[in-house]
Amino acid sequence: MKTVVAITGASGIIYGIRLLEELEGEKALIITETAKRILEAETVYTVEQVMELADAVYHEDELFAPVASGSHRFDAMVICPCSESTLAKIASGIADNLVTRAAAVCMKERRKLVVVPRETPQSPIMLRNSLRLSEDGAIILPASPGFYPKPQTVEELVNFLVGKMLDQLGQPHELFRRWGD
Ligand SMILES: Cc1cc2nc3c(=O)[nH]c(=O)nc-3n(C[C@H](O)[C@H](O)[C@H](O)COP(=O)(O)O)c2cc1C
Repeated sequence: MKTVVAITGASGIIYGIRLLEELEGEKALIITETAKRILEAETVYTVEQVMELADAVYHEDELFAPVASGSHRFDAMVICPCSESTLAKIASGIADNLVTRAAAVCMKERRKLVVVPRETPQSPIMLRNSLRLSEDGAIILPASPGFYPKPQTVEELVNFLVGKMLDQLGQPHELFRRWGD
């Protein structure tokens, strides 16, 4: 299983980092320049440490990278966190950097695309963009962790959301206690 993970310039970079730590299989990472700055502002990780979690790392400008082509085989893409700017571009079919192009490849090749927006409150434009993307086949998985497993730490809250992403990718995990278990 090969997964493209994109980390874009929204708060909640830790969700993307923890996903990289837990995700099995081959991982290609695209991290935008804004995401790198937010990463340093809101986590204890360095950009270099995060890059080491992936098998391949691409710059957002690398439109000649393998994952920019539908002929290159990868199974799924997760954009986590996904800025509303990137989400809007994907919903409109704009493919002007490697994140939006790889997402457009997912849409046209009917591959799984999981988008994790993190913005609040949501404007009507944002809500319409998410609806459009969902109707076109992407999974919209907002960065809103559940509280029913009674989390005691921030890490447990983060793990809940990472577990929901892994559920979408079909990877077994024990990152949170399921309702009824
Ligand atoms: C500190 C900081 C936090 C931000 N948080 C968010 C956010 O949570 N959600 C969002 O949609 N945009 C957020 N933005 C704005 C995006 O970074 C901005 O729209 C940027 O153009 C996104 O570019 P990218 O998607 O190519 O990384 C934030 C910006 C900064 C500087």
